[in-house]
Amino acid sequence: MNIALRLANREDMKTLFSLRNAIEVRRYFFNPAKVSWDEHQKWFLNSLELASRQLLLAEIDSKVLGVFRFDLEGEFAEIDIYLAPEMMGKGLGINFLEVSIQWGKEHLSALKYIFAKVLKENRASRKMFEKFGFALRDETDTYFLYEFNLTERVL
Ligand SMILES: CC(C)(COP(=O)(O)OP(=O)(O)OC[C@H]1O[C@@H](n2cnc3c(N)ncnc32)[C@H](O)[C@@H]1OP(=O)(O)O)[C@@H](O)C(=O)NCCC(=O)NCCS
Repeated sequence: MNIALRLANREDMKTLFSLRNAIEVRRYFFNPAKVSWDEHQKWFLNSLELASRQLLLAEIDSKVLGVFRFDLEGEFAEIDIYLAPEMMGKGLGINFLEVSIQWGKEHLSALKYIFAKVLKENRASRKMFEKFGFALRDETDTYFLYEFNLTERVL
């Protein structure tokens, strides 16, 4: 399986709009409401401008696999990952996570610690992060906070 990973660009705006609004994707978002085209456009164009944000798009055999986001602050990054609905349920998330973190290691020189906030009911996501080696660092009533230390792991 060959995952092609690249930075998102303006031409991906519509693709991300339909993916982000798919019920299978947004049901585990902290805000699960649909977004309007205007809201999406603002968010997406701003995301491309932000130096602290990296939006990655992955494809397998020219079909969209999913979207990965790094939000950087010094040596920390919060991440978000989602797959296109038709790619879910095949165990591909963990491979996508791996190539994205590898990308982060190669392109984000300050990066040491990666965090992911996962809603407690999001079992597939929890399983994926735990299997990959993320450690549970904290929890609230609604979510778990997972951490991955890049300096302690050879990818
Ligand atoms: C989270 C996500 C990336 C995982 O994708 P995936 O690799 O297709 O996930 P899978 O369905 O293959 O499940 C991963 C693991 O969780 C297990 N799992 C899936 N649903 C489960 C459930 N309801 N209860 C328990 N385990 C479950 C699978 O059996 C699999 O386990 P395995 O690795 O031992 O085989 C994908 O579901 C997604 O994009 N979800 C929507 C967005 C999202 O939740 N993103 C994460 C935000 S933090």
